[in-house]
Amino acid sequence: DSVPVGIHDLTFRTTSLQLTHAELAGHTGVPLAKYHRGIGQKAMSIPAPDEDVVTMAADAAAAVVGRHGADRIRTLVFATETSIDQAKAGGLYVHSLLGLPPHIRVVELKQACYGATAALQFATALVHRDPDQQVLVLASDIARYDLDSPGEPTQGAAAAAFLVTARPALLEIDTPSGVFTREVMDFWRPNYRTTALVDGRASIDAYLHALTGAFGDYRRRGGATLRDIHTICYHQPFTRMAHKAHHHLLQQAGLPAGPQDIAAALAPTTTYNELLGNSYTASLYVALAALLDSGTPLDGETVGLFSYGSGSVAEFLTATVRPGYRDHLRTEAHHAAVTDRRPVGYAAYRDLHGSGLPTDGSRYATAASTPGPYRLAGIRDHRRLYETNG
Ligand code: CAA
Repeated sequence: DSVPVGIHDLTFRTTSLQLTHAELAGHTGVPLAKYHRGIGQKAMSIPAPDEDVVTMAADAAAAVVGRHGADRIRTLVFATETSIDQAKAGGLYVHSLLGLPPHIRVVELKQACYGATAALQFATALVHRDPDQQVLVLASDIARYDLDSPGEPTQGAAAAAFLVTARPALLEIDTPSGVFTREVMDFWRPNYRTTALVDGRASIDAYLHALTGAFGDYRRRGGATLRDIHTICYHQPFTRMAHKAHHHLLQQAGLPAGPQDIAAALAPTTTYNELLGNSYTASLYVALAALLDSGTPLDGETVGLFSYGSGSVAEFLTATVRPGYRDHLRTEAHHAAVTDRRPVGYAAYRDLHGSGLPTDGSRYATAASTPGPYRLAGIRDHRRLYETNG
């Protein structure tokens, strides 16, 4: 039998600002219940002018590297669909900000929200090949839709960081996994746009169709039955989507699928995302962090992970929670990341949404705003300038 490989450490960070859905509803006239119950969102993370996917990812990565060191990290994968450069991997800025050693390959991966799960599988394979090496996966995204569009209340942001190693402390990644790919225009962002385009209803259908496909593949390849899986973490573009997904899967398996039972089963997985909003690649791993942090005893249990990336690629896999995992959690830091955010009013939120770096590369200094450890200072000669804060 080969050595077990999986997630040794997992954490997330987010932006320093938030817009509550109560504040949003006060100005859009949408009943608050539609946000709270209909889509299952209470607040969304909003980036300050000097925060972006690199500063969030560096913040999360620093915690992991601070605990485990970087000596054995041979690969850093940066998964994002909020890419800041067409050529250079965002992970290189993280590598520099954290002063990581030079003997690390750094690369960026993209397939919408699925990118981090691809990174997890690639990392697992690399560690199987050489169990002495560790792979740092960073999943960082800012979900932005047009103002006054149906997607607006499902915006958000976060970065997850996880370390993939042999003999992991948190979760072993199981085989088999199920995958499903189908080209579909449900959600996309052309290179010239800063906000995503989406066909909302089609995207929900595509998500559920991909879930059927990926779970079917998983089962045909010898995967566990639903009864043998303790809890499933779903990609959460908005947390009600996880309820829809679970309902869909239970119904297809001929199992009872009452709304109350589904809400109770998934509640431990949605506590962070309902306050952060969509974080694309990070969302599934934030859901996993919420489940591990929830207090539900999971030692030795099998948990499911469903990753969906519009466009579309999906994967269903399971992981076995390691006995004693609770000694390695970061629950306090996660609560702080969520609660330390400063609420912004509707007008300030709209101003922030409309502002951004100049697109012609001209010299620009961002307003000093973030209290976080890293900041995007501005642009000079078409170069993004990052710095350690304070
Ligand atoms: N009280 C309680 N519930 C209410 C309500 C009220 N007063 N008013 C409406 N609702 C409910 C509706 O019944 C509906 O629930 P159901 O779906 O269970 O029927 C829910 O609130 C949403 O209302 P609408 O159907 O009117 O939807 P909308 O036009 O506001 O748009 C959306 C919802 C399509 C999700 C939109 O927010 C959107 O486009 N979001 C972005 C796309 C997205 O997240 N897609 C998810 C799948 S794609 C993916 O997963 C990848 C990714 O990350 C983007």
